[in-house]
Amino acid sequence: MDYYSVIGMAIRKLPAELAHDAAIRALKLGIIPSSHAVNHPMLKSRCFDLDFNNPVGLAAGFDKNAEVVDGLLAQGFGFVEAGTVTPLPQSGNMKPRLFRLAEDEAVINRFGFNSHGIHVFAQNIKKHKKNGIIGANIGKNKDSLNAVYDYSVALEAVYDLVDYVTINISSPNTVGLRDLQQKNTLSALMLEIEKKRIELALITKKRKPLLYKIAPDLSQQDMEDIVEVALAHKIDGLIVTNTTISRPEHLQSKNRNERGGLSGKPLFALSTQTLRDIYRLSHGKIPLIGVGGISSAEDAYTKIKAGASLVQLYTALVYQGFGLVREINEGLIKLLERDGFHNIKEAVGIENK
Ligand SMILES: Cc1cc2nc3c(=O)[nH]c(=O)nc-3n(C[C@H](O)[C@H](O)[C@H](O)COP(=O)(O)O)c2cc1C
Repeated sequence: MDYYSVIGMAIRKLPAELAHDAAIRALKLGIIPSSHAVNHPMLKSRCFDLDFNNPVGLAAGFDKNAEVVDGLLAQGFGFVEAGTVTPLPQSGNMKPRLFRLAEDEAVINRFGFNSHGIHVFAQNIKKHKKNGIIGANIGKNKDSLNAVYDYSVALEAVYDLVDYVTINISSPNTVGLRDLQQKNTLSALMLEIEKKRIELALITKKRKPLLYKIAPDLSQQDMEDIVEVALAHKIDGLIVTNTTISRPEHLQSKNRNERGGLSGKPLFALSTQTLRDIYRLSHGKIPLIGVGGISSAEDAYTKIKAGASLVQLYTALVYQGFGLVREINEGLIKLLERDGFHNIKEAVGIENK
């Protein structure tokens, strides 16, 4: 076993949140070796007017304060989404708030947007070389009475610093946040955010893509409404999905009844079905990022065939380490070749065609 596997194993022995903090520190110190990104024409695609070297991204929540985006990009990701960041600093919920469900290859978290605030986030982003695509995932402060104001403030602060911005309306750990997915509220939010973007585009002379991240715990009606509103407002894309508040019966771990959002393997079926539904309801007209329970190239490929133009992951990295990024990209090339595709774009949503 090499030195770096030993570091990875040591980190995994720590309590969950300490392990996460240790991983961030190790990335800062540069003691996690970088991995040459898989560079292959089959994996390259253009989405939201951005050129992605490969379709595998890091999901929001790992680097909430944009401290290590360079180190993360060096792990071979096609893109890294930092955040969720809130306008003002806030400490989040009381610890413990992160739980491993090792038997289920899952995690439950109830962080509640612990964030150093948008000012620190922006300062951190400015320090990076940004050798790749970076997104900022923005949220609202717990005590804020005006979500639209919070998103506008955060959007303005990061607009010129990142390649795309995600409006997080689906974390289960901020009271009322997911209500923003309701039709009228969502429509009003999208209208205001679009106004802000037009203003920022005029100032910066750049039109940055804006994505919305949705939950897996939506009814058929909710999904129809979201698609209708998203098409009407011509949003750039949806990220499908965040963690779930549901608890599949087959969970084994003693931590299964902890409050919060469940991610990892037990989320795969639910989030993939949501992705499939959204793709079908929108007739493939909204670019989608598929996230939830991806732990192999086959999983990533299933999401792509269900309608994802790009994918993201987080929880599987806790159990398998960053080597998984390369494994998924290499595996995807083989799967695309096996099925006679020349480029990933050809496989997007293929199971619906
Ligand atoms: C510890 C943890 C913290 C997270 N924090 C955020 C967050 O701040 N914002 C967000 O949009 N999603 C957050 N997520 C959700 C992930 O981005 C992702 O949508 C979800 O975990 C499903 O993917 P996975 O099964 O590959 O982990 C978090 C997930 C985990 C496990």
